[in-house]
Amino acid sequence: MYDFRPAADAPKRAIHAQLLEAAAAITEGERDAVANMANVAALLGDFLPDCNWTGFYRMVEGELVLGPFVGRPACIRIPLGRGVCGTAAQTATTQLVEDVHAFPGHIACDAASRSELVVPVIRDGTVIAVIDLDSPSPARFDAEDAGGIEALAALLANRI
Ligand code: SME
Repeated sequence: MYDFRPAADAPKRAIHAQLLEAAAAITEGERDAVANMANVAALLGDFLPDCNWTGFYRMVEGELVLGPFVGRPACIRIPLGRGVCGTAAQTATTQLVEDVHAFPGHIACDAASRSELVVPVIRDGTVIAVIDLDSPSPARFDAEDAGGIEALAALLANRI
């Protein structure tokens, strides 16, 4: 049994450090990408407060396809350039969206979502997946969250 869990009152920096440590430990030596994404999606859901969807979309034959996640059922395929995830994948850059209603083309998978953070996972210069986090609170994510999830994406580049 794994029992990774941050202290409830831990500061954000500590939560990110513990999340990265847990993700490194749980994916260490495991070469199955689905297993690793599934465990990391669960860790994200456990570690990050105030999120209603945490998970992955994978780049498959030129479009994003739903991967392991925690949350409500979501749209399955997202073309490059569409929505927050498609923009992150096409531009290979992190998308930090304080108000999803103000993001042109945002794809509403869960009507409760108000803000979103999407970070590309890049291997050898190619986007292979994105990590998607949704929150029911406006402006839930900031630059510190983006940095923490980018560190996680870097770790996972060779593990998914
Ligand atoms: N809102 C995303 C779609 C994925 S769901 O949030 C899980 C987007 O606009 O790309």
